[in-house]
Amino acid sequence: MNIKIGITSENIAEIKDGCIAIAFFEDRLNLNKDIEKLDSALDDAIKNSITNKLFRAQTDEIKTSYLKNQGIKCIALIGLGKEKEFNLNKLMDSVSNLSKKLRAMDIKSFSIYLDSFSNRNFEFNAYLEKITQAVALSLYQFTKFKTKDLDKIKKIDEVTIIVDKNNYDKASRIADEAMIYAEAVNKTRDLINTPPNIATPEYVANYAKEIARKNGLKFTVLDESQIEKLGMECYMAVARASVNKPRMFILEYKGNNNEKPIVLVGKGLTYDTGGINTKPANYMANMKDDKSGACSVIHIMEACAKLKPKVNVIGIGVMAENAISGNAYKPDDVLKSYSGITVEVIHSDAEGRMVLADALAYSLKFNPKAIVDIATLTGAAIVALGYFASPIMGNDEKLINSIKKASEKSLEKVWQFPLWDEYEELIKSDVADIKHLNSDIDAGSIIGGIFLKHFVKDTPWAHIDIGGAAWAKQEKSYKPKGATGFGVRLLLDFLREQ
Ligand code: BES
Ligand code: ZN
Ligand code: ZN
Repeated sequence: MNIKIGITSENIAEIKDGCIAIAFFEDRLNLNKDIEKLDSALDDAIKNSITNKLFRAQTDEIKTSYLKNQGIKCIALIGLGKEKEFNLNKLMDSVSNLSKKLRAMDIKSFSIYLDSFSNRNFEFNAYLEKITQAVALSLYQFTKFKTKDLDKIKKIDEVTIIVDKNNYDKASRIADEAMIYAEAVNKTRDLINTPPNIATPEYVANYAKEIARKNGLKFTVLDESQIEKLGMECYMAVARASVNKPRMFILEYKGNNNEKPIVLVGKGLTYDTGGINTKPANYMANMKDDKSGACSVIHIMEACAKLKPKVNVIGIGVMAENAISGNAYKPDDVLKSYSGITVEVIHSDAEGRMVLADALAYSLKFNPKAIVDIATLTGAAIVALGYFASPIMGNDEKLINSIKKASEKSLEKVWQFPLWDEYEELIKSDVADIKHLNSDIDAGSIIGGIFLKHFVKDTPWAHIDIGGAAWAKQEKSYKPKGATGFGVRLLLDFLREQ
């Protein structure tokens, strides 16, 4: 990654850097001995800010002051609000806003005084992890395709976290792990943000192959003729109208010799025009993000190779482009899925569930102990939960609960939707076994789940619909505008708890 995060146990008063950031709780505005010492070298800049109420340490408050003739050029005071009301979301927001503010000031490197974040609600590990991730995630920029004024792009090269000597080893380990997460998220964002004329199914499959080679993961890929030969008619129906031919890739990580694997399946539509039922222009924009699930899976697998959780994981990416052509699939078509179930097509823009149906059925051949799919499946996910949380549903409460637990730890929010039998009625077909959609738009995200459920048999399965969370229209906190990389931290925390 192009930002380095290091740990030091040097005394804060000795640090030389572009800026030192120190946090305060509103109801605990005192300086410890080390800060006192630093402050006296700064002509009491901190004390004065506090006594003159220029800084009150309220949530969202960041006060920066330039200093003259010092080994540090600037001091940043961060407000964390009331200690009782403090939480890790607020922490990530504060550190993200700090990082972006210092970058805007064209500071190249800064140090964070970790001790000032210590609080009674969270352990050292938790706040150090979140601080590290917030720095690395908030400073993400996608500039690969810019050719002009590159020298005007401001960039922070290095951030140092100042810890107590006794915590040095522990802190180094936690920060390294947190950086593996952040790197996985940022690389996921990069791949999703890569435009669809470049990031074709073949490109993403080759990218995954390269990740496998570098990290010692097993790699397999199915091309168009193999997908066709296997009888994946639902997948091929979606894929065949594009000149960019489909690929299904499989990455395998072994962290436990005897256990059945957990299979992750990612939707990988490198572009979703809607097909014959073409999307209107304003809905088609940004549909390069329809490959988000598969991009997440690739980097979750890479992070597994680095973090080495004691679990076997198989990651599948189902790549295709939903295009328009004379041979495009149409409403009223009936297709035989890989599982044997026949499917009546209602709307060509509900293509995600078609490719996933075949990939989920295929994943059963690995005899998995659980399957988790992650997919930008429905716009209805936005209607229901907005842009920061994802619907989760499935056929196994235990599996869903363990993902919910990972959600609390990772701060990537999921909310369970029901897959009640009553919904089954809505996908009954007159001509085929089932249809992939109800004719109304009622319960859009749930209907997606109800359809997919048919293809996993009795295997514990969960479906995470990132239709809302994969893409940010607006920059906020540690999420830049564009691809968010949602699901990477969530599923890594899930896998590491197995
Ligand atoms: N890729 C879209 C879902 C989507 C929409 C993701 C907006 C992110 C933002 C999916 O393939 C799709 O088009 N779904 C349709 C389903 C409909 C035809 C039942 C939708 O959500 O409108
Ligand atoms: Zn679609
Ligand atoms: Zn789609």
